[in-house]
Amino acid sequence: MRNKKMIGAHSALALLALAVSQVHAADATQQAAREARADKAAEKTLAKMSQEEKLAYIGGTGGWDVKPLASQGIPQIHGADGGVGVRYTSEGNEQGVVYPSGPNLAATWNPRRAIDLGRALGYDTATGGYQFITGPGVNLYRMPYSGRAFEYLSGEDPFLGASLVPAVVNGIQSRGVWANTKHYAANDQESNRFNLNETIDERVLREMTLPAFESASKNGKTVMMMCAFQKVNGDFACESTHLIRDILKKEWGYKGFVQSDYNAVVHGLDAAQAGTDLDMMGYQMNSTVLKPHLDSGELSAATIDDKVRRILKNIYLYKFDSKAPLTTHNMNSATSNKVALNTARESIVLLKNQDNLLPLDKTKVKSIAVVGDLAKYAPPTGFGSANVMASHYISELSGLKQIAPNAKVEFIDGLSLDPTASVWTSTNTAGNDVKGLKAEYFSNANWSGDAAATRTDTRVNLDWSSDANLPINGDTSATSIRWSGKVTPTVSGEQVFKVRADGAVRLYVNGEKIIDNGDGEHLPSNSIPPTIPVFAKLKLEAGKAYDIKLEYSRRNGYISTMGGLVGVQMSWASLVAPQDLSKYDAVVVAVGNSNEYEGEGFDHSFDLPEFQNDLINNIAKVNPHTVVTMHGGTGLKMSDWIDQVPAALHAFYPGQNGGQALAEILFGKVNPSAKLPISIERNIEDNPIYSTFKNFDNEEQLKEMSYKNDLMLGYRGYEKKGIKPLYPFGYGMSYTTFGYSNISVTPGVAVAGAPIKVSFDLSNTGKVGGSEVAELYVGQQNPKVERAIKELKGYKKVFLKPGESKRVTIELNDRSLAYFDTQSKQWVVDADTFNIALGSSSQDIRLNAKLVNPFRQELSTTTSNPLPRSALNSTLVTLPPVTTGGVMHQNENDDSDTSDGDGYGSDVDTGTTTDKSSATGN
Ligand code: BGC
Repeated sequence: MRNKKMIGAHSALALLALAVSQVHAADATQQAAREARADKAAEKTLAKMSQEEKLAYIGGTGGWDVKPLASQGIPQIHGADGGVGVRYTSEGNEQGVVYPSGPNLAATWNPRRAIDLGRALGYDTATGGYQFITGPGVNLYRMPYSGRAFEYLSGEDPFLGASLVPAVVNGIQSRGVWANTKHYAANDQESNRFNLNETIDERVLREMTLPAFESASKNGKTVMMMCAFQKVNGDFACESTHLIRDILKKEWGYKGFVQSDYNAVVHGLDAAQAGTDLDMMGYQMNSTVLKPHLDSGELSAATIDDKVRRILKNIYLYKFDSKAPLTTHNMNSATSNKVALNTARESIVLLKNQDNLLPLDKTKVKSIAVVGDLAKYAPPTGFGSANVMASHYISELSGLKQIAPNAKVEFIDGLSLDPTASVWTSTNTAGNDVKGLKAEYFSNANWSGDAAATRTDTRVNLDWSSDANLPINGDTSATSIRWSGKVTPTVSGEQVFKVRADGAVRLYVNGEKIIDNGDGEHLPSNSIPPTIPVFAKLKLEAGKAYDIKLEYSRRNGYISTMGGLVGVQMSWASLVAPQDLSKYDAVVVAVGNSNEYEGEGFDHSFDLPEFQNDLINNIAKVNPHTVVTMHGGTGLKMSDWIDQVPAALHAFYPGQNGGQALAEILFGKVNPSAKLPISIERNIEDNPIYSTFKNFDNEEQLKEMSYKNDLMLGYRGYEKKGIKPLYPFGYGMSYTTFGYSNISVTPGVAVAGAPIKVSFDLSNTGKVGGSEVAELYVGQQNPKVERAIKELKGYKKVFLKPGESKRVTIELNDRSLAYFDTQSKQWVVDADTFNIALGSSSQDIRLNAKLVNPFRQELSTTTSNPLPRSALNSTLVTLPPVTTGGVMHQNENDDSDTSDGDGYGSDVDTGTTTDKSSATGN
């Protein structure tokens, strides 16, 4: 009877699989028909366009839009910025949901979350009245300096990127809007981003830099690809024939169009010939620059036609010619919020949990101290074009208060650098002691003559773009202010002072200058200059009053948007924990970066800002139950404090509902299941590419960057060199434990073109439900060329109840074994034995097996795929596409989560259900 049932269940599954594959086949036929119609329509329109019209059309509006083509009835196509949420670009300040950052998504190791995130992002884009979004960002993580790592979802591994990117792109595009995968290629750091020349050899390019883009093209069919600012092997990325024309378009058969990053086209002719289709700023690819080359025959009319055809075809394919953008503006929908929350729940990595301090026990933990401004407001995110300000959020402080309503959850103001909380005193003009500082406002740049106005400012927290009651108008070339007064510490020891300003600042304590940022100017070439704080520490005595003087002189050109600041802020706080911190049952310390220290246009330090390492150590001395939650798009220095604290998590930038997700993890309502998509260095010098990238550069002096060590990026290099990072790639703890057994590889001898199945039993050997990411690494035994000892080539996230076991299969394909052969310019699999290593992290391998490839195989760059079949299937959106011109209703904003009983939101502490093979078409 039981067997019959099993057989029944199996055949039902087989029927389902058949039905799914039939749906896919039918989808593919319909899609081919739609494409053929779009091609035809584009051809017809193209035939009616004059050369002048075509040349005008391949330049964008200079904003975010594709120009209208009124004569052909084609409207303007509206784009929105943002990879981690929709940043409104042309319609006021309304913003979309802030999703967890790129590294958060990578840390989920779950294409299912990537599809949902893509669908939600696509929904927000469409409902906002936009037809494309400039994301996802997919570049590789090389060093912790990277300013835009928070936007990128590849981590340090090309396979991880290649497996997630098409899921996001498919999700976005299933909403009837275009994805714009960026930045093609190798915009992996911000140092001198407009001029840096990267030397990248062909193997590094093919094996490390490009697979995420290859997958976006081949598997995601991303309509847009944004070419990058910097140079690759001597050519600006948007002018690289090798990257765009030869690899992207010819080899990969890319059917979309390439848009330049904003102002990334330096030479119009080169970009046009290299294959850039749309110069968004239009400064170079226009009639003035290109027509003479057309006339001389240097540039062919066919080259221009190809660009126009690509853009038009996708307009027709998505019916943008006839379907007006939506006006619903439902930018903060419940479903999008749920997607942000679910992603966050799976994306916060538990790094350390000594003596099972976590999860906190609600019945025992009656008081929690929360330290750090990052916990107080909207969960942080980075600066720049991907910066989205949450209009609605759950801070980490609020998340903790809500999850533990009977506990006393208190924010510790004395350790806060919030400018609204810092306490100053001074004597006012009437001679009375008052709270606040004496403020002298000058209508000149250097505090000269009589002040235009003098008053008491309770705090230094001035914003020229929004403050209503300022005594002077803040003219950028003729404004200076002097604040003076006193501070009186309540704890003896080191105190930190912090100033953030759009100009020159000098801070004096008792006459000693402790902060001086020079002339306060930013690089003239930086069109979106960040406002990075300056900080300093010094020892002060409790109860003693110290003189304070801050001089500020305003400078031109800073911005108030994208996480920037036009204004000035000053704060101070103790780095020493007050004794009464010892009486709390736990202390949660939020540290790391934010839009102030990390973002587009600049790289940043490996160190935690504001001497937070000292703060952590000082708190841990007072309270042994200190939990550190780290934030930022990168790894940061942890080795100087991690041994002092019992528990630590890397939350990256967990999005607007990150406070809830974090609280749920800390209290065990959600069992953490995230794994690091990066290695975290013990010391920066340990990073395998350190010798080629010792220091970042925000002054545009660094002209050359060698990628010569990049085949051994991240865990590849650590393993090769025998150095242990502090936390390895793929590492992340759970509240349960998992057992691996019974590995089999079928076939054990590879047959060209046939998938290789690696199967094993995975068991939950602990007491609570949880999800494990099983990671599959492959290494060649006797490589003829330099190869990493092992490389990630598959993974699967599986939810298991306590005591439950499942047989899990991960597929490999021929590319999983291949390297790029620079002679034949193809992928090659040597005749050799390959080691299959399966484990819980790159350094925690539980099962080993072998696979033999008996004959050398050569794989075409066109038809080979970085994703094995099952990984590819798990990026597919099985919900109906809305690309056919249907009107999107709110109830279409379903994430794929709703139908599958994920267990999220219920009060069971099972964590997540993530093995959705049937639902994702596996
Ligand atoms: C960034 C792009 C962004 C664009 C538009 C550029 O500076 O590199 O990623 O989409 O600005 O804001």
